[in-house]
Amino acid sequence: MAMLCRLAPRGRSCTQLIAALGCSASRQKHTLPDLPYDYGALQPHISAEIMLLHHSKHHATYVNNLNVAEEKYKEALAKGDVTAQVSLQPALKFNGGGHINHTIFWTNLSPNGGGEPQGELMEAIKRDFGSFGNFKEKLTAVSVGVQGSGWGWLGFNQDQGHLQVTACYNQDPLQGTTGLIPLLGIDVWEHAYYLQYKNVRPDYLKAIWNVISWENVSARYTACKK
Ligand SMILES: [Fe+2]
Repeated sequence: MAMLCRLAPRGRSCTQLIAALGCSASRQKHTLPDLPYDYGALQPHISAEIMLLHHSKHHATYVNNLNVAEEKYKEALAKGDVTAQVSLQPALKFNGGGHINHTIFWTNLSPNGGGEPQGELMEAIKRDFGSFGNFKEKLTAVSVGVQGSGWGWLGFNQDQGHLQVTACYNQDPLQGTTGLIPLLGIDVWEHAYYLQYKNVRPDYLKAIWNVISWENVSARYTACKK
């Protein structure tokens, strides 16, 4: 829990982050958040079968394994067993990252998505990338270029006050490993597209722009600027 609190963006309380991750201080167990739409709602861009497996199997496994790792970590802390604490760090990073990343990803998508962002976010994209087209091209290229499994991200660099595109490998959470505040994440693990797009990751990347919820990305941008 303390580890997750340290991941809270500035201006966002630990309680808010915990709530966003589907856990509470009293229960201290993470839970799989409901999707804000049906499994088939993102078709034809992302198939119902992919969404069902991705959410109910893959994300659920990260949640379960995070809970197991946190239990063991609590025991190790209680015993003062530093070796055990250190050996649990990779499991916390992988499963905690998997839970954080997918929780953001589901809300970044919407059956009513696509098009272009408006207002402040669009202005910032033009300021930092030259145009929306350039930004889209850059995030697509970075995401297609991830070797093996990982994520493409649009993040906000709070210290420098600008947007940044970057990639993270495995389930490394953006903020916990780079300091950037996550606005839009694109999951490029094969489990996110293989059943529909096979090995052609660029086709998945082309399709996903049709279901990006700019409303959600803009809300995240506005929140992290407060
Ligand atoms: Fe995934």
